[in-house]
This record gives sequence, C-alpha cells and structure tokens, in this order.
Amino acid sequence: MTSMSRRKFVHTSTAGIAVAGLGASAVEAVLPEHLSAAPAVHAPRSISPVVISDVSGIRYRNGGDESAVERAFRLITAGEDVLDALVEGVNIPELDPEESGIGYGGLPNADGVVQLDSCCMHGPKRWAGGVAALEGVRTPSRVAKAVMELTDHHLLVGEGAREFARQLGFAIEDDLNTERSRALWLEWRRRVDPGHWLDPSTRGRRGVGEDTGPDTTGSHGRQSLRERSDRFYQAGLDMVDEGLIPEESFWGTISCNGIGPNGDICGVTTTSGLSWKIPGRVGDSPILGAGLYVDGAVGAAGSTGRGEANLYNLASFLVVENMRNGMHPKDAGMAALRRIQDNTVDDRLLNARGLPAFDVRFFVLNAAGEYAGVALYGASERNFAVCTERGAEELPLEGLLEGSPRD
Ligand code: GLY
Repeated sequence: MTSMSRRKFVHTSTAGIAVAGLGASAVEAVLPEHLSAAPAVHAPRSISPVVISDVSGIRYRNGGDESAVERAFRLITAGEDVLDALVEGVNIPELDPEESGIGYGGLPNADGVVQLDSCCMHGPKRWAGGVAALEGVRTPSRVAKAVMELTDHHLLVGEGAREFARQLGFAIEDDLNTERSRALWLEWRRRVDPGHWLDPSTRGRRGVGEDTGPDTTGSHGRQSLRERSDRFYQAGLDMVDEGLIPEESFWGTISCNGIGPNGDICGVTTTSGLSWKIPGRVGDSPILGAGLYVDGAVGAAGSTGRGEANLYNLASFLVVENMRNGMHPKDAGMAALRRIQDNTVDDRLLNARGLPAFDVRFFVLNAAGEYAGVALYGASERNFAVCTERGAEELPLEGLLEGSPRD
C-alpha cells in the first residue's frame, strides 16, 4: 500500500494549496480568495498528466507491483490513449479478490449473486459505454469499453450485457464470489433472517434463531416492504460499523479519471454496487451523469458512495456543469454535495443530527489539470488517491460536513 507520508500530509494541510514550484504565499497572492481557501485543490503551472481515484486505486495491487493510478499514469505518460490506460488501471482492483467492492470478489446482492456495473467516457471522442447488473465477467470496465467502441448503444444490462460479452470472447464464469464475499453474505443473511439461516457457532442455544425473519406479506400489523428494506440496509451498515466490511466497499466502486499531456480527459467507473442490494438494482456507477461524467473541454467527475443520491441529483453531471460555469473542482464538487444534502429529506436517510446518514464522494479534475477529492464527510482517515509526476499518494478528502454519517 502506498500511503501519504505525514510530511506530505502536513505540507498539504498547512499550505492550503499545493502548486508545483510555488510557495503557498505566492499562490495566495495570485489566486482569488475562494481558491486560496480551497485546500483540496492542486493547481499545476501547466497541464501535466494526472490520474485521480478513490482509495481502491492505490490500496489494491492484485499481488503485483502497481496500483490502478500508477498503472494508468505510467501508460498515459507512455502515450497510450487515456481511457485505455484508465481501464488497464482499474482492471487491477477488479481482478483483486481482496477488493470486496469491485469486480471479482465484490460483495453480492441479496440472493448471493455478484452483479456488476461500469461505465466509461472518452472526452475527446465524445464516446461513452456502460453495462449494468452484469454477471459472470470479472472486468466489467472492459465490457463497458467494448459497448462504447463496438456499438451504437450506451448501456447494456443483465442477460443482454452478458451475452454481448460472451459473443466478444470474454470468459463467463458461473460465480464471481470469493470465499470471503460468500462468508460475508452468509453473515448478512443470518442477521436479517436468523430463523432460517443459523450460525453454526451458536445454533442449538436457547434464544438463537427464534426470530423467523421479516414478514413481507404486507398484512395489517406486519412489516412493510419499506421496513424490510430498511432492516436489510441497516444490517449491512452494522457490518461496516463492526469493521466486517470496509466503509469504501459497502457501496463498492472505483472511479478513476485522468488527463493526458495533450489535455485529453477520460473517466471510468466500476463497481459491485450496494452490498446485498435487491437483485437487479442498478446504482449510479453505470449511469452517465450520475456516477460519472466527462466533458473533454471542461473536466471529469466520478463518484463513490450512495448511488441513489447521485441518481436523484445527476450529481456528476452537475459537478461538470459547475466547472463549465467557472467553478474550481473543489467548489464544483462541494456545490453538488450541498445539492445532495438539500434533497435528502426522508427521515430514514437522516442521522440523529438531521444530516445525510450516508456518504458520497467526488473525484474531480478540470481541463487545466487541477483536481480535488471531496466528500459529504471528510475526516483524517478518509482519503482519495492521485498519481502525478510526483508519484502516487493518498490525500485527505475535503468534507462538506463534520463527523461521520452515522453520528
Ligand atoms: N456508488 C455505487 C452504488 O451505489 O452502486
């Protein structure tokens, strides 16, 4: 794992803004006030290649030497097409069985089936492609790119997406679960339906397995579907709080954007989606404008976190439009996060403080090569990944709100 050194962390935080070759005071003297107050934005003197992603892009190597951002950056600087390089990069966590939110070994749906979503956008070509609820292919990003390159369509789903992949020669597997993802799914099943799914370590004890699970008949006085889905969801969040599932993996996703030396901007997003989702549920990741949006002349925004919030607000599109209207990546992302907060009104989605009980993160870069990682909730341990000519590093996400989603 490559992590940011304390020295770099302190430098970034104290300087407020990191500009290659310039001290913080020189930068603040030439930038407008709202920019000098934006610690998560980094403004190089000229466009130099940048790859930005969530932490999956730096913490997973699938047993090899390179992380996703390192591989993508290396290929971009070697002259490869930016999108090809990004897809090569995200193939690393897709294939890594330890990464439980993406590709092979991603946490499955409520029925224990791994269903994957992905999309990609090529800024200069103005091409896009995606797949949703795809089963059996470890690298959905490659299938999304094939949809983009080989068809007139932008999105293939479910059985159709799998048949498309099969026709193109992708290996189709019966099951993308690993031992770990299956064990976590079994743990979740026991929590939501303890009357039917017994824990071998406690079965036979008095009081264990007496709850026969949620009743979904909808009859008067029984649990509604909403209560049932809240319970299913809460059981997953409890597993995050107990450290069984990394927070990043609950909604899965790697979102990886890059800019090349000639200013080409592209992006890709790939995920197993919300853990234990209703079979067939599609999140924001394969939906253009929700989990990813790229405009080659403006910039790119990709996201992780609660996909429904991005779907409702078309938030990645909003981030790019904010940049088109002159905002810096950090401010553009923060404005979209504020929109999400304003549109989160259901009690079940609010924590005890009346704030969103979930996180959403954006990884944003603009056509000048400036970038930012922002989140509803920033905290010292919540980072994003970036690779530049300085190498790969983790930097702190800038948070809109204090504390954590479930405080
Ligand atoms: N952001 C990933 C998902 O909600 O599916």
